[in-house]
Amino acid sequence: MARILKEYPSVALKPKDLDGKIDFVRIFGRTGPVHIEIGTGKGTFLLNQAGTQPGDNFLGIEWARKYYRYAVDRIGRWGLTNVRIIRTDAATFLADFVPDNSVECFHIYFPDPWPKKRHHKRRFICPANLEHLLRCLKTGGQLKIATDHAEYFEQIKQVLTVGAAQCACPRLKQIDFLPTAGAEASEWVGTNFERKYLKDQRPIYTLAVKKT
Ligand SMILES: C[S@@+](CC[C@H](N)C(=O)[O-])C[C@H]1O[C@@H](n2cnc3c(N)ncnc32)[C@H](O)[C@@H]1O
Repeated sequence: MARILKEYPSVALKPKDLDGKIDFVRIFGRTGPVHIEIGTGKGTFLLNQAGTQPGDNFLGIEWARKYYRYAVDRIGRWGLTNVRIIRTDAATFLADFVPDNSVECFHIYFPDPWPKKRHHKRRFICPANLEHLLRCLKTGGQLKIATDHAEYFEQIKQVLTVGAAQCACPRLKQIDFLPTAGAEASEWVGTNFERKYLKDQRPIYTLAVKKT
């Protein structure tokens, strides 16, 4: 029988309640490094990571209603107080609501690859979104990406190198991708998609950069 998903107003941020750039201290009720996960799916990364880093604040962005509701229910039931989720398009959200120099780390794990050529323009990691990701990152902040899709990974590397050099963005330095604290042995990030792909023995590509 399908589980009844509960709403947890303390977890779910509503786009209609936002007015201009977000004050993260108000949203989380405290100061602390802010992590944003783009495309949370069912919220497994947020659950595990927020549990292992109780001093940090985690905001998930997910536009699919089904996954968003599932993630809200899980986070609420786990009683995590350092996680919020919003159901919206991450590109618009970054552009309109996330302040400059405010984010410690962006996590983008298994973004939709949109494999057909005519759909490549829908891919999240593109020069326009990179500009906002870099604007929102603090100096020293990180952008961490994982995908199973070799061709998208090549494009991501291209966007990060060429794109960052061309836009009025700060410099980026590639750093080692360390497995996230909530990942289990042999995992990089411990998301549902990673677990599925590891079972299928697909290669996983990771990249981490730092804003210098
Ligand atoms: C392939 S799934 C990966 C989910 C999760 N990160 C994982 O690894 O298990 C990609 C997720 O990103 C969400 N997504 C894609 N584009 C988005 C956007 N522009 N804004 C918010 N969510 C997005 C999709 O709805 C989907 O849940």
